Amino acid sequence: MSEEIRIGIVTVSDRASRGEYEDRGGPAIREYLEKTLTTPWVSVPRVIADERSRIEATLCELSDQQRCCLIVTTGGTGPAARDVTPEATEAVSEKVMPGFGELMRKTSLEKVPTAILSRQTAGIRGRCLIVNLPGQPRAIRECLDAVFPAIPYCIDLIGGPYLETDPQHIVAFRPKPGL
Ligand code: MTE
Repeated sequence: MSEEIRIGIVTVSDRASRGEYEDRGGPAIREYLEKTLTTPWVSVPRVIADERSRIEATLCELSDQQRCCLIVTTGGTGPAARDVTPEATEAVSEKVMPGFGELMRKTSLEKVPTAILSRQTAGIRGRCLIVNLPGQPRAIRECLDAVFPAIPYCIDLIGGPYLETDPQHIVAFRPKPGL
């Protein structure tokens, strides 16, 4: 029997983790993935504070123990003192994937000038792709629309499961189909 496909959804926010406001980022990511992926998958959600060690431990747990093939984070990518999600992502990644941040900033800059403030990045840990998104729920959709076409092939290349998408929403681009 093939293994269940698991996707980590990590909200990084001091206030959401203290229950001071409702987490809107995590549910927005989940909703996006539910619309996009036709392959069955299970979400592994976490809501944590903007603490670098906590973020690193969560990313390691989701990739190593929970066996997620993809982790999407939201929040903590800006310039404020407590924004450390990109540092934590780079620290636990064996490879940094700068193209994700470059494309997301380029696309987001067409919508908001403050997109330049996001230091979002991506990385590979084992067989898991980690992608940072900014905290704004609107940014989640805008950024995922930009990078999602390349995500299934990236997961193919690192030995993860074969993810299929609804072409009405996102067409997954595979330069070498059947790899
Ligand atoms: N990207 C998109 N697509 N849409 C947005 O509204 N907001 C920006 C930026 N990127 C935004 C965006 C703002 S205002 C900030 S401060 C940075 O992301 C960092 O956000 P974060 O600290 O919540 O991660």
